[in-house]
Amino acid sequence: FDAVDVIRTKRDGGSLSPEQIDWAVAAYTRGEIAEEQMAALAMAILLRGMTRAEVARWTEAMIRSGERMDWSRLDRPTTDKHSTGGVGDKITLPLAPTVAACGAAVPQLSGRGLGHTGGTLDKLESIPGWRASLSNEEMLGVLDKAGAVVCAAGSGLAPADRKLYALRDVTGTVESIPLIASSIMSKKIAEGTGALVLDVKAGSGAFMKNVGDARELARTMVGIGSDHGVNTVALLTAMDTPLGLAVGNAVEVAESVEVLGGGGPADVVELTVALAREMLAAAGLTGAKDPAEALRDGSAMDIWRSMISAQGGDPDAALPVANETCQVTAPATGVLSRLDAYGVGVAAWRLGAGRARKEDPVSHAAGITLHAKPGDRVREGEPLLTLHADTADRFGRALEALEGAYEVGEAFTPPPLIIDRIA
Ligand code: URA
Repeated sequence: FDAVDVIRTKRDGGSLSPEQIDWAVAAYTRGEIAEEQMAALAMAILLRGMTRAEVARWTEAMIRSGERMDWSRLDRPTTDKHSTGGVGDKITLPLAPTVAACGAAVPQLSGRGLGHTGGTLDKLESIPGWRASLSNEEMLGVLDKAGAVVCAAGSGLAPADRKLYALRDVTGTVESIPLIASSIMSKKIAEGTGALVLDVKAGSGAFMKNVGDARELARTMVGIGSDHGVNTVALLTAMDTPLGLAVGNAVEVAESVEVLGGGGPADVVELTVALAREMLAAAGLTGAKDPAEALRDGSAMDIWRSMISAQGGDPDAALPVANETCQVTAPATGVLSRLDAYGVGVAAWRLGAGRARKEDPVSHAAGITLHAKPGDRVREGEPLLTLHADTADRFGRALEALEGAYEVGEAFTPPPLIIDRIA
């Protein structure tokens, strides 16, 4: 095969043959296709799209570029969740232990923050002592003991995606539905989960700004999962305003612990319970304990503590607290009619909760706490948001990101959080 022929085929609107796809992905992983050639192919895919058969084969080739994990030694079915990313999306933290408390095993490989969206590993690392990197044996050990494990993917898992994702990030080729779908699904299928629930977000704080694109992404991923024998379901959920009342790292861990203790904000509880029910159903556990009960009776909290300790963390340790805070107050009295997820996400990122370059550290204490959600009554001059940062010089640029991000009106009824279900 010749890389230029493969690029021309896609550039001119043709379909790539299975052999061309297998070769392109394998040769790129081995370093035999140059970065500029793969960049051209990725752009041709972004502009021309891919058929269902091409996406399936591309995903398969990315899975085969590395190892495929196997959990058949466990005595319970495995089930996992993947979110396409949002602002305040800490759902994995209460969700994984809740699902484990209801009888399934949750082997979750998670990621770090990307741009204005937070990452599960960055949040968990604010717990003193907690380690994200585990060997496959350690991962099995935690899963056996606690029933759930959340850790970083090793370098042996879908190495083709690791390389391609870094290239897409710097060539304007992230926003392609076939490339996003194959990227996410290759990692989830290689992770070896038996069932998968996708939380596909739509709105200002998500990758997909409108519901139509999110629906197409969800359908593509559900198709890939089914083609690979992974029982896959997607929920389309709203990401126009942050989830919960905390955005950042340690502040989101604290909110998750409230949910695990039977409290916490209603939207976080609603999404945790809905996704948990879907995960259990997808794994075939129909007569299992209800997730809402596992949050009420303390069994989800017990698993959280065991899961955190098994990875070196101290579930009782005090979480990092920011040195500096700054209040944003309500500009008028009325009903909060908008609190934009993207603006809040960018502000939290600039406060230090996210990173500017891949190798940068994050601040565990940085973030934003909300004092009201859209639909709540607010009074002029009372606190709307509290910004947290390690140093006060972070506040200026964060406040700029919040300009125009909130509005107070006469009345507002929040739209439903769960927009649709795709199976
Ligand atoms: N997350 C991924 O893992 N891959 C993408 O392409 C986009 C989001």
